Amino acid sequence: MDRWHTIIEPFRIHAVEPIRLTTEQEREQALAAAGWNLFNIHADDVLVDLLTDSGTGAMSRDQWAAIQHGDESYAGSPSWYAFLDAVQALFPFRHVIPTHQGRAAEKILFSAIGGRGRVVPNNTHFDTTRANVEFTGAEAVDLVIPEGREPATLHPFKGNMDVTALEALLAARSDDVPVVFVTITNNSGGGQPVSLENLRAVGAVCERFGKPLFLDGCRFAENAWFIKAREPGQADRSVIDIVREIGSLADGMTMSAKKDGLANIGGWLAMNDDGLAERCRNLLILTEGFPTYGGLAGRDLEAIAQGLREVVDEDYLRYRIRSTAYLGDALDAAGIPLVKPIGGHAVYLDARALLPHIPPLAYPGQALAVELYRAGGIRGCEIGTVMFGVHPDGTEEPAAMDLVRLAIPRRTYTQSHIDYVIEVATDVARRASTLHGYRIERQPAQLRHFTARFAPLA
Ligand SMILES: Cc1ncc(COP(=O)(O)O)c(C=O)c1O
Repeated sequence: MDRWHTIIEPFRIHAVEPIRLTTEQEREQALAAAGWNLFNIHADDVLVDLLTDSGTGAMSRDQWAAIQHGDESYAGSPSWYAFLDAVQALFPFRHVIPTHQGRAAEKILFSAIGGRGRVVPNNTHFDTTRANVEFTGAEAVDLVIPEGREPATLHPFKGNMDVTALEALLAARSDDVPVVFVTITNNSGGGQPVSLENLRAVGAVCERFGKPLFLDGCRFAENAWFIKAREPGQADRSVIDIVREIGSLADGMTMSAKKDGLANIGGWLAMNDDGLAERCRNLLILTEGFPTYGGLAGRDLEAIAQGLREVVDEDYLRYRIRSTAYLGDALDAAGIPLVKPIGGHAVYLDARALLPHIPPLAYPGQALAVELYRAGGIRGCEIGTVMFGVHPDGTEEPAAMDLVRLAIPRRTYTQSHIDYVIEVATDVARRASTLHGYRIERQPAQLRHFTARFAPLA
């Protein structure tokens, strides 16, 4: 297989969705109407939508078939058991609590164990994870290794937790730490993987301090593929075997099935602790639903169960990781600064490096994301000072990095779509010095990037 250079999508197209072509002028109007926030753009006005890889993947023939098996019984549906079996085949946690998506699992967990005075370490909190920790009054601390904060530094596992920093935090504040989290792969840090060695080391520290280790497992299969490809001694293991070892090192997990569940909606919270599970189920019933469906229809549970079987397929994962690298390598060759090595689900452009004339508080990531849309109808996502710059007390400072994430939906776009993205991004980068910053006109107290309205600073 490796003799051939071309990336073959390991599937044929079975149903197609039209994409509407727009002019630059139409997109300029759409931007003004949206307050220059790409979350406010009508998706019909987007040509290649790389806003997120979450819930945007194409389901397989077998997932659509599984949907027909959806059983909508309120309690004890066969679809629930199909879901439970599929989750536990990979992550044999004693308790599995279905939720409508990842953040619902976070909300429930941190409502149960967070609170004022508490501190939650993670390699890097995703935005919803941080928001859910902070909403309870607790503090969210990111302890990724120093290389994980340097976009251009090469490291095979840039998502690794800084174990020394974790030990120091636990030594100083052990009583305040209800849980240690590791996000696989590290989305906010560039989709970078965490090694098995690092997970084992984090697990050992947690055990020493008597703390549970939870995974934010959204992209567990992609992380396992990187372990197989990059970690010494792992090449001959199956991805499923590696996933099971990852699960065995943890005491629980939160999951968004919209990523490596290959589903359009869904998630779960899982754990071994009986008492904590009971508290979480009580919260689940308040907002999500009965514990055997938890905010999902029976058909969604079936789609996730089938998706979990497909996502660990090694031909799929080889294609997935290679096709993301194809985009990243081409942009790198065009001289566009980006996070390296290329992550699993996305390419992260380093807007701060590309637009040094735009200060972080004029949002270079927003400027680059807006221009990619204006020029070519490509929708990416700012991951920088807009997303992370505001502290709970309302003060603002530059985030660690100003990135634009081009997230690749699973099994959705072909190589020619990606070639088009390469062409547009290369053109935008060539004109980088002409781009201008933005100011925020209106913003909410939390998660401002979703709804803030901007104005150009030109
Ligand atoms: C690492 C990580 N954690 C949690 C979430 C939240 O999941 P959801 O969007 O399903 O609520 C996401 C979603 O993008 C994520 O990437």
